[in-house]
Amino acid sequence: MTRIAVLASGRGSNFEALAAAAQAGTLPAAFVLLASDQPGAGALAVAARFGIPSAVITGRRERGRLDAECEARFLAACRAAGAEWICLAGFMRILGEHFLGAYPDRVVNIHPSLLPAFPGLDAQAQAWAHGVRVSGCTVHLVDAGVDTGPIVLQRAVPVLPMDSAASLAARILVEEHRLYPEALRLLLAGGWQREGRRLLLTANPEPAT
Ligand code: GRF
Repeated sequence: MTRIAVLASGRGSNFEALAAAAQAGTLPAAFVLLASDQPGAGALAVAARFGIPSAVITGRRERGRLDAECEARFLAACRAAGAEWICLAGFMRILGEHFLGAYPDRVVNIHPSLLPAFPGLDAQAQAWAHGVRVSGCTVHLVDAGVDTGPIVLQRAVPVLPMDSAASLAARILVEEHRLYPEALRLLLAGGWQREGRRLLLTANPEPAT
């Protein structure tokens, strides 16, 4: 069982999808910590429901980044929990090199667009406003940029004529909840290697069950 910490700032539906997959036995992971920078995050309630320890770590905001002291506290909490991998699930802070250096190629994120299109905030609304016919979601390894790291898996979601930004976001979210456990299963199984920024998959991802 791989020990995983999740960092989340919001409602926590992706965290819930991961925790549910682990509980169902379809993801060989033990979620050992949910850490949030937001005391009111819904993700904390999800953690309580699943019996997963949680921590709230607040600090100053520095243009979307965690300040150094706050980042050190997140890192210390993850280490104390014995986390081997880190999953970001709606974590609204950019991690710095100190944290990422402690978990090289072991920090994963999900983003609600087909990267490299529409990185950053409100990706679904960006895609809808741009008028694309297809958007989707991406699971990627985290590097020092914003949504720029090596891509693990992507799933396309068509933009329908009657879509609003909200309805598109809702359909993308359904796919996020399938894709994140699937991508994590693949990563944990070790069926990949990295060549530059390309992730070569040496095993096919198992279909989600
Ligand atoms: C998701 O759309 C995720 O892709 C993005 O932030 C949102 C988090 O939603 N990074 P939730 O907290 O997992 O419900």
